[in-house]
Amino acid sequence: MGSLAVKLAGLKLDNPTILASGIMGSDFHSIKKIAESGAGAVTIKSITKEPRGGHDNPTMVEVEGGFLNAIGYSNMGLENAKYEFQSVKDLQVPAIASVVAEDSQGFAYLAKEMSSVGFSAVEAVLSCPHTPGLGLLAGHGTPEATAEIVSEIKKECPLPVIVKLSPNSLNLGDIANAALEGGADAVNMGNSLGPGMVIDTVCAKPVLSYKVGGMSGKAIKAIAVRCVYDIFEATQGKIPIIGTGGVVSGQDAIEMLMAGASAVGVGTGVYYRGFEVFRKISEELDDYLTTQKLTSLSELVGVAHG
Ligand SMILES: Cc1cc2nc3c(=O)[nH]c(=O)nc-3n(C[C@H](O)[C@H](O)[C@H](O)COP(=O)(O)O)c2cc1C
Repeated sequence: MGSLAVKLAGLKLDNPTILASGIMGSDFHSIKKIAESGAGAVTIKSITKEPRGGHDNPTMVEVEGGFLNAIGYSNMGLENAKYEFQSVKDLQVPAIASVVAEDSQGFAYLAKEMSSVGFSAVEAVLSCPHTPGLGLLAGHGTPEATAEIVSEIKKECPLPVIVKLSPNSLNLGDIANAALEGGADAVNMGNSLGPGMVIDTVCAKPVLSYKVGGMSGKAIKAIAVRCVYDIFEATQGKIPIIGTGGVVSGQDAIEMLMAGASAVGVGTGVYYRGFEVFRKISEELDDYLTTQKLTSLSELVGVAHG
């Protein structure tokens, strides 16, 4: 039996599966449940300084191979989150605080505040495709903005910093190198793709109240794998990558690792396979290591290159 253990950005994970941000809402008991279901690490729903209601319903619609969502970062806000997650260090796996802000000072402030709560790392989300004032719609998906945001966070935050990027970006290599130069400890590649639209043909109107939403699930996996591959190539493997987008099975995770990821984010996979998705992916990875006579997952990282 090979080892599924992974070291990433100073975190020690028993296996490479990480609950993606936003999938289990914002409360402590939901992420505790996932931690107990076999995830290697968990990420909380992104937190803003003030509470946000998000976009009006409907905020999600199923499409072939996945979902469109335009949640709009509904969350409890910083002060409530600090209270809600006060026992986070008691979880049996590392927990990652996800933060999102309008500018670099806002990111740095949130990262500093969340670092006192007991999280193991902070993830800065620069990549949402459907929320005005934040992420792509605030111009955060450029090398310049990435470098500035990361370096401001690193001045204030003692925890490892993960930067969550967008599969929409065409210059991912430059963005990842900017994150590296700014001091990021890892990148998460990445957020939902798009946005896309579904039209209700009876009402002759878009289904989502915000009209458009980011796409997640199996249908975006091939794009996410290519994005991971591009970043690994451009950074020469110098920054650890969490491969997120359509990972549902051990086979999906192996593809991500071969492209250059060290760990995988699992979001919509919880819908397809339930809370057990993390344990199932680990079992499938374990079978693969045994069949291939490999001793550790690290032997797979980046092997699709060259
Ligand atoms: C309902 C929903 C809410 C999400 N909320 C967030 C969020 O708050 N912060 C964030 O960084 N990503 C958020 N995401 C994006 C996911 O973390 C993930 O990057 C994306 O869904 C792609 O992975 P998947 O195909 O495994 O779902 C959300 C996705 C969904 C479906």
